Amino acid sequence: MKDKLQAIVDQAMSRIQEADGLEKLNDVRVAFLGKKGELTAVLKGMKDVKPEERPLVGQMVNETRAKIEQHLEETRAKLEARARELQMEREVIDVTLPAKKNTIGHRHPNIIAQEEVERIFIGMGYEEIEGPEIEYDEYNFEKLNIPANHPAKDEQDTFYITKDIVLRTQTSPVQARTMEQGRLPIRMISPGRVFRSDEVDATHSPSFHQIEGLVIDKNITFADLKGTLEEFAKELFGEETKTKFRPHHFPFTEPSAEMDVSCFKCGGKGCRFCKGSGWIEILGCGMVHPHVFEMCGIDPKEYTGFAFGVGLERIALLKYEIDDMRLLYENDYRFLKQF
Ligand code: DAH
Repeated sequence: MKDKLQAIVDQAMSRIQEADGLEKLNDVRVAFLGKKGELTAVLKGMKDVKPEERPLVGQMVNETRAKIEQHLEETRAKLEARARELQMEREVIDVTLPAKKNTIGHRHPNIIAQEEVERIFIGMGYEEIEGPEIEYDEYNFEKLNIPANHPAKDEQDTFYITKDIVLRTQTSPVQARTMEQGRLPIRMISPGRVFRSDEVDATHSPSFHQIEGLVIDKNITFADLKGTLEEFAKELFGEETKTKFRPHHFPFTEPSAEMDVSCFKCGGKGCRFCKGSGWIEILGCGMVHPHVFEMCGIDPKEYTGFAFGVGLERIALLKYEIDDMRLLYENDYRFLKQF
């Protein structure tokens, strides 16, 4: 038995010596110590050993196993160290190579302007609400007091999907949708894309963006409208900015106005930028029409409110002194990367 075990040890040692990789070493382990391995076979043969010799033989088998295991372990450690060394040699980093430059994208001037407007109104406690770009005629026109024969409803101005569904021509339908929810008071802005059947030129595009605003509560007055929009203009264009409200007509507000800001380029003296007038038109606004309140389920005797609509591109063009709206959509990287 002793000789047999010694033979197994010798054999194992030489196979371990030959193993030049971790996988091969594992094969050796399986061949000698595995379930069907040579040493295991000896253990299985114990039943043929005389009972009084069994303890001794058992001890010898265990010693043999320990010897082989120890050698396997030492060899595994050596092979692993070698493998790591080889890997390090392979993965040498040449720190003198020129670095790859990452081109990082950045925000579009429209988005920068939108975020600026959002920042101002969210700072005043407004929440932001999203509305659908594909809208029912009912919300885009009807509930905003725009009657069937209104010129805005002409196919020349509006993209119709069906008789009752349009690509929204303004963000104002979000007003009606918000009022209908019946959660009062309301203090919201709603930025988004709008569509009009316009030819492309320096100041027109069939798709552009607006930011709608709506405030409804008890005792809201035109003074609140003026105070809010004046503050907005100052935050957007600078503390020294003056504002001017001109009477105007919008079907869904009464009274309605357009707000001009003093030209931030010449300070109001008159220049090429403001076409000599010293003023720049910036938004439409007004007090929510009682009829609109009624159509949206709010009692106009109990609540009042104001609304406004800002053209986003207009803000972006003014703020960055861009003189052609088409530049905003052509995605010329040389243009866009300036902002
Ligand atoms: N929706 C109007 C437009 O597209 C802009 C507007 C004017 C919105 C007055 C308003 C408002 O909320 O009160 O021309």
